[in-house]
This record gives sequence, C-alpha cells and structure tokens, in this order.
Amino acid sequence: MEDWSDCLDVAVQIALRAGQVVQSAVKQEKQVSSKSTPTDLVTEADHQVEELIISTLREKYPSHRFIGEESSAAGVKCELTDHPTWIIDPIDGTCNFVHSFPMVAVSIGFAVRRELELGVIYHCFDGTLYTARRGHGAFCNGVRLQVSKEKDVSKALILTEIGAKRDPATLDIFLGNMKKMLSAPTHGVRIIGSSTLALCHIASGAAEAYYQYGLHCWDIAAAAVIIREAGGHVMDTTGGPLDLMSRRVVAAGTRQIADYVVKQLQPINYGRDDTDP
Ligand code: IPD
Repeated sequence: MEDWSDCLDVAVQIALRAGQVVQSAVKQEKQVSSKSTPTDLVTEADHQVEELIISTLREKYPSHRFIGEESSAAGVKCELTDHPTWIIDPIDGTCNFVHSFPMVAVSIGFAVRRELELGVIYHCFDGTLYTARRGHGAFCNGVRLQVSKEKDVSKALILTEIGAKRDPATLDIFLGNMKKMLSAPTHGVRIIGSSTLALCHIASGAAEAYYQYGLHCWDIAAAAVIIREAGGHVMDTTGGPLDLMSRRVVAAGTRQIADYVVKQLQPINYGRDDTDP
C-alpha cells in the first residue's frame, strides 16, 4: 500500500490555517449569496478559503487534481478519476457560519484510484481536529476514535441533515423519513447543520447513525475515511457500496443499525455530482 502520510501532514497544516481564516471571518460582516436554491448559501469566505486550500496543495502537489465545493459551483467539472484527487469543502455548514451558529468545519479528503485514502476535518469553533488515513486508524485531537457498538435501534441516536430542496414533495419525503426514525422508536433525531461534523459524531460514537439525501462528495469524502477507520460503516442509502458522487449516504457504527436505517428510507432524488449541474 502506498504511504500517504506526508499528504495527511500537509492536509492537517492547511486545515488548521484555513480554520484560522474561518475563525476570523466569522466575526466580520459576511457577503452572502445563494447557489442552487435560496437556502444553498455561499459567502466570500467560502471562496477565499477554498482558494487558499487549493493553491497551497497545488504548489505542493502540482500533478494532483482537485474537487472543491465552490469551484464546482463555478462550473469546474466535478470528476473523480484514478489520479490523486483532493476533495474539499472549505466551509461546511455555511448557513451556520452566516449565523455564527457554532457548527462549522473545514473538510479535506484525498482519493487515489477512486479509493478514499485520508480525511481531515477541523471544527472551526471548538478547534477539534479529526484525522484518518486508510489502514492507520482515526483520531480526534490525537486520541483514537471508536464508533458506537450499539446494535439495538431503540437505543440509537440518529443524525441527519435537511438538504437544499424545500419544495413540498421533497419536504414530505424528508419528514416521512424522519417520522420513521423517531417512531422506531429511537432515542432521538438531531440536525446540527454540518454534514461533516455530524458524520464525525458517528466516528466518535456520540451517535449511532447518519443518513442524508442531497449532500455532496465534499461533505462525505474526508468523513468516510474517518468513520471507516473508527470501525464504522459508510454506504449507499440502498445498503450497497458508497457511491461518492450519488449525493446520498447512510453511515452507522454497526451494520445492524445501518441495515435498519436503509430499510426505512424513502429516496429523494438530488441527481449526481459528476453529471448534474
Ligand atoms: C451543507 C451542510 C448542510 C447539509 C448540506 C451540505 P455547505 O454543506 O453540510 O448541513 O444539509 O447537504 O451540502 O453547503 O454548508 O458546505
């Protein structure tokens, strides 16, 4: 197996620098606009942080490729090939960032031959750093992470995120899915406004499962490595292998809870990152 430890070290340094930019930007007035829908927000800071991350990585690794949330929104093709590729969300939880709601992260994933190799997620408000490299474990501020071993869904805490579509038909399915999770019954359902940080809570064992329709490859890439290295499962909402570009995911500490969630879900079609605008 190739050793990508230098890439992990570089990603950590860049995530910390990017996090500092986010920390100072959160205190300033924000220039907010919207992208795919009125609730899909972007700020100047998202662009600034993505530019910082990509230009620093490009200088270090000129042959590598990049998928970034804001570059993709600007029309750069979102394509995962066999080439070493960095997958970046400069500010995950942009709506939280706009409101200074303290759940905002920088997420940097890295894939080679379409296999996710490493992930770094930095929580910009509390300074928590999640890191993982395939085959080498997952860590939170240097302490090894372990997913929840709970198999009984009636003792599970479930996380999800809403996604950008708010038309009545989509909301009916979204609320129907949430109703099924609540009436299992589970201990509860939580929405924190940041897919990457919610997924980190699966890795740390603070919650048992996560599901979402409508997130993007840059929301999943780093977190998938962190969850898998913490002993968890990350998959398609049908229960099959994760398709990074499919805009849907189920993650869980145990296969039993993942299977339960998969069986409950009614799909919401968000298209794909690699084909749809
Ligand atoms: C979004 C957030 C949100 C989730 C969306 C993500 P962004 O990322 O994680 O909670 O519902 O699906 O795309 O736009 O804030 O980077």
